[in-house]
Amino acid sequence: MNKLLIIDDDTALCEAVSYHFSGKNWTILASHRGDEALRLCARHKIDIVLLDQRLPDTLGVLLCPAILSHNDQTKIIFITAFPNLENAVEAIRMGAYDYLSKPFKLDILELAITKAAKTLQLEKINQVQQYNKKKECEENRLIGFQKGARNFHNLIELAASSDAPLLLTGETGTGKSLIAKRIHCLGSKKDEAFISANCAAFPENLIEAELFGYEKGAFTGATSSKKGIFEMAEGGSLFLDEIGELPIHLQPKLLGVLDEKRIRRIGGENIRHVDARVIAATNINLEEAVSQKTFRNDLYYRLGIIRIHIPPLRERKADIVDLCEYFVQQMDLTNEIEFSQGEIERLMGYHWPGNVRELKNILERSYILRKSNRLEPSRLIMDDFPLMPAPRTELNPLALDECIPGLPDTKGLPPLHDIEKHYIQHILKLKNNNYSASAKALQISRSTLLRKLKSYDIR
Ligand SMILES: Nc1ncnc2c1ncn2[C@@H]1O[C@H](COP(=O)(O)OP(=O)(O)OP(=O)(O)O)[C@@H](O)[C@H]1O
Ligand SMILES: [Mg+2]
Repeated sequence: MNKLLIIDDDTALCEAVSYHFSGKNWTILASHRGDEALRLCARHKIDIVLLDQRLPDTLGVLLCPAILSHNDQTKIIFITAFPNLENAVEAIRMGAYDYLSKPFKLDILELAITKAAKTLQLEKINQVQQYNKKKECEENRLIGFQKGARNFHNLIELAASSDAPLLLTGETGTGKSLIAKRIHCLGSKKDEAFISANCAAFPENLIEAELFGYEKGAFTGATSSKKGIFEMAEGGSLFLDEIGELPIHLQPKLLGVLDEKRIRRIGGENIRHVDARVIAATNINLEEAVSQKTFRNDLYYRLGIIRIHIPPLRERKADIVDLCEYFVQQMDLTNEIEFSQGEIERLMGYHWPGNVRELKNILERSYILRKSNRLEPSRLIMDDFPLMPAPRTELNPLALDECIPGLPDTKGLPPLHDIEKHYIQHILKLKNNNYSASAKALQISRSTLLRKLKSYDIR
């Protein structure tokens, strides 16, 4: 409930306002003198003040700073029976929000109060958003990448200092989404929006509307106009995840937006300026997609003005130590969690097809299932991935023919795509044709699975 304080020596006006607003979700307080009003401000958190200019003990304008010193968000609506521009200018200069001259109708007053309450509400929402943004950026930590000829962190800082389109490539779970956010947080647009959209998540017929917005009546069902995510990201960053899934017919349109920084909503006349930094990511080989003509060459080069490839975890095994320490600390700050002997070496011996995401999941599961504060995550790898074809390691001793029952018994070697197709069919069967569960078991994204089903003609 909002609190409204009326400071006016006119008792009739105080009563009329109190009466008018009673039962309208307002708590009304009234005072006829300045000193008494300030005492009320000290005791209550006042949202809106109606402040008269002539009071028995002071001038309203002089009270403004004292009122705001109790709560700088209070909205002061200044009222006076002697309107002149100087008074108004002085009141606004002293921090008042609005100005009304007496006599006024109650509905005019109500309008001013509603407007002030709305501003107050927007300021509060904005504060929460700013706080969340700051917190998210502070919590967005990128662990590892300390080794390498060119320090990866420098590369990221360099990418953050530019506004050019950026392409992040790397296997699933390597940290592309995290790095996209980090680059936003390190850049000059950190206080603006970071909008993230997964191109594989929208049905093909909706993706254009999602990206570019639409006007009322543009298509059946467009009952009102809607901003697209490009417009929402105005001034900030737009993260286009799984860009390889963007339908080919929309690719020229995206290219046009990147080139001209202008969009037109579907069914719209107006050209709107958009200035969002585009960060795209993919875990498929875009060069291959270009050669197969499913991804446009020109868009590939435009998006990848700056390119960062994130190596898989198995190629930066030194990071496993730091990541384990970091994730365990995130899960439990109070207990001293450690790893059983030889655990880290065992984890370093595994090939991590799901990369950091897989490591994080295994650690979380091992923490939940722990019997003591000594974790043994490598046991879970054995339990969870008995079917995973992988190079022979201590952790993964199964050979392909051992782990996929029913693989055709050919004399010669089967082509790789046959093995992949067979393996996918096998997992689908195991998971009752549930795509999400199968994709999870295969450690690939659902969209990658769907693409593979299509290319192998698996129904
Ligand atoms: N270097 C890192 N430091 C800390 N956390 C990381 C790091 N890399 C990845 N993670 C964490 O691992 C998980 C997976 O990372 P993320 O979602 O960024 O991967 P991705 O490359 O975008 O995967 P996908 O291609 O499947 O979308 C997230 O919880 C992320 O916070
Ligand atoms: Mg991602």
